Amino acid sequence: METWTRLRRLASIIPRGASSPIDRLRWALAQAESHGWERYFGVDTRRAAAHGQTAVPAESIAYEPLPWFLVRHAVGALELSHDDVFLDYGAGLGRALLMAARTKLKRVVGVELLKPLADSATKNVLTARHRLRTPVEVVVADAAAWDVPDDVTVAYLFNPFVGTVMAAAQAKIRASLTRRPRSLRVLYAHADDQPDLFAACDWLRPRRQLGGGIYKGLTLRVYGN
Ligand SMILES: C[S@@+](CC[C@H](N)C(=O)[O-])C[C@H]1O[C@@H](n2cnc3c(N)ncnc32)[C@H](O)[C@@H]1O
Repeated sequence: METWTRLRRLASIIPRGASSPIDRLRWALAQAESHGWERYFGVDTRRAAAHGQTAVPAESIAYEPLPWFLVRHAVGALELSHDDVFLDYGAGLGRALLMAARTKLKRVVGVELLKPLADSATKNVLTARHRLRTPVEVVVADAAAWDVPDDVTVAYLFNPFVGTVMAAAQAKIRASLTRRPRSLRVLYAHADDQPDLFAACDWLRPRRQLGGGIYKGLTLRVYGN
């Protein structure tokens, strides 16, 4: 494709909110970074539609990946180490799993409600295996009913569900901590116009808050127990 055509295509996907020249430049850089990560891992995690079923029940949020630069930022903020077991709630096509597994951890687990997405995430992990330093497992399950493994030390939630599903998932995290007391961090990302569903968890304390940068209207918060 000609350079000019590429640039015009890039310009056409810059959101209207990015009105200042600086914002437009930052957005173009973010898009370029996204393409870079997709190429680096050899995957396409942009849209779920190509992977079959995408409809989700009430209180579940359909697949929408966090832009790659924010996944990098969010996973970086967790300061993962080789003792960590990273869990992505609502793993989708595996973007956060891939980013986390670049670091040497104990293991990485994704739980995803929709089998077609989970299968594609598993394929993506396989494709990217030469870039990964940690084994990754993708489980097909409803987070509301799924028992959190007692070695998980980091739970990552990019706005996967709300309401009773979130309450049930939070109860599962807490039950795991009761079974096996340990340190745990939670990264929760949500739109600014939605409530922070971890704010009322009195067994967690806010540790860090990150903005969404050019991706306006998003708050990411790290909690710890
Ligand atoms: C906003 S996307 C998160 C994408 C992913 N974490 C990432 O960073 O690329 C939400 C995901 O949560 C999944 N999901 C929704 N409800 C769920 C549930 N009850 N249990 C497990 N996964 C669920 C959806 O199918 C979707 O893939």
